[in-house]
Amino acid sequence: MVEKSTGDMIGQCGITWQLLGDGTREPEVGYLLEKAAWHKGYATEAARACRDYAFDTLGFEEVCSIVRVNNLPSQAVARRNGMEVRGLFTKHYYGMDMPHLLFSVRRADMRQDHK
Ligand SMILES: CC(C)(COP(=O)(O)OP(=O)(O)OC[C@H]1O[C@@H](n2cnc3c(N)ncnc32)[C@H](O)[C@@H]1OP(=O)(O)O)[C@@H](O)C(=O)NCCC(=O)NCCS
Repeated sequence: MVEKSTGDMIGQCGITWQLLGDGTREPEVGYLLEKAAWHKGYATEAARACRDYAFDTLGFEEVCSIVRVNNLPSQAVARRNGMEVRGLFTKHYYGMDMPHLLFSVRRADMRQDHK
């Protein structure tokens, strides 16, 4: 992600395949910003663009975001991206069990206010 007025790189947002708790895989919208770029709406802007690209260009019917249960800012981005909680599952990394929420939005659920 590049901040248009300065040309500075401020983070990343994109679509990757992610394994869900049940072993299936789904396209995920993920995001990560430099701290100086938080609280300006940039993650939401980029996440919405990725969601629309996934539906309109790649032809997916559903996209998700997988977020740790304690990561409230990231959950807020998912909600602003039109997503709802669809499940809870545990990921295992760094030798720990980490509960994650599965958010998703379906193309069929899209309402005008998510645009
Ligand atoms: C997740 C992450 C990208 C969220 O960043 P964020 O700044 O909270 O989210 P946004 O860029 O969408 O900005 C939303 C904020 O900008 C404000 N804002 C200001 N101008 C805005 C505008 N024009 N449009 C929308 N929001 C605007 C919103 O009110 C909101 O304010 P708040 O943070 O006080 O609630 C950031 O916390 C991060 O990089 N964390 C580390 C990595 C991480 O956890 N990634 C997710 C893994 S699942």
